[in-house]
Amino acid sequence: MIQSLEELNCSTIIFGTMRIGKWGAKLDSQGILALIEGCLELGITTFDLADIYGDYSTEGDFGKALALRPALRDQMQLITKCGIRMMCDARPEHRIKSYDAGAAHIIASVEHSLKEIQTDRIDVLLLHRPDWLSDPDEIAEAFTQLEKAGKVRSFGVSNYTPSQFALLHSRFPLVTNQVEAHLLHLQPFNDGTFDQLLQHKIRPQIWSPVAGGALFQASEDAQIQRIHKVAKGLMEKYNASMDQILIAWLLRHPSQMMPVIGTTKLSRVEAAVKAQAIQLTRVEWYDLWQASTGHEVA
Ligand SMILES: NC(=O)c1ccc[n+]([C@@H]2O[C@H](COP(=O)([O-])OP(=O)(O)OC[C@H]3O[C@@H](n4cnc5c(N)ncnc54)[C@H](OP(=O)(O)O)[C@@H]3O)[C@@H](O)[C@H]2O)c1
Repeated sequence: MIQSLEELNCSTIIFGTMRIGKWGAKLDSQGILALIEGCLELGITTFDLADIYGDYSTEGDFGKALALRPALRDQMQLITKCGIRMMCDARPEHRIKSYDAGAAHIIASVEHSLKEIQTDRIDVLLLHRPDWLSDPDEIAEAFTQLEKAGKVRSFGVSNYTPSQFALLHSRFPLVTNQVEAHLLHLQPFNDGTFDQLLQHKIRPQIWSPVAGGALFQASEDAQIQRIHKVAKGLMEKYNASMDQILIAWLLRHPSQMMPVIGTTKLSRVEAAVKAQAIQLTRVEWYDLWQASTGHEVA
């Protein structure tokens, strides 16, 4: 059984697909294919999807693009997610938004994702959000069934608290917890999320690594202004762009974070790849931390 993202040869930088379709750039198949090919040329082999992206349409868009060059499938690792029942026109039966990590939902969702992506296997399946009604033994049973059938190669979670992660990990080996982390969201540094992953030598995947774009415009917000001021100095020192500094800040952490980048532009994907060469000093890392918190560490 696959127990780590290394065994799958996942790339450190992961390409996130949330904004490529209906929820963002609305790229056509050729546009998506160009992004996929560009990523692969840059050494980004891992792609992050979810059943719900684009109101349940982005997996299908990605699959149509991949169908134009099916041989690419063997050069990549595909992550997808399940467990959110979202309200939208594509799911009129969803009366309210809710979570579902029951076995029936997990298995049906994987079958649907395989069809949409036009592939015979998912490399990493993540439970998108913790479902308070889920039974860890039932989840483990569903994961085992999918793994034995060759439909999913490895399993992880997203947005789980450390205790939720520990509980499920005690029943089934998880390969990651995909969480939000950036200079405007420091919570996982403080709540035990990264400590736990370090303890188990499991690499975190980081969503919204450049704060979802929130740090790129001038702002009246004092926190953003402090971050801009420190980042500007580092951009000059390293001859780097703001997004590169933000990614380098994450990569400086010992948990070996894997940023899931959400850009839809290849030039920014290339910048993210190059950011891996920037080694911020310990003091520079704390400079940015202090800019975010607004005070000196205790
Ligand atoms: N597990 C979860 O619950 C969860 C939640 C949210 C997202 N995700 C995953 O994480 C991925 C990334 O999330 P995200 O899109 O919020 O991440 P992000 O990489 O922090 O933000 C991407 C946004 O920032 C903009 N941007 C990037 N560099 C820029 C620059 N130099 N100047 C101006 N704008 C810039 C991008 O626009 P351009 O396209 O113009 O570059 C895009 O709108 C998603 O695609 C998805 O796969 C997972």
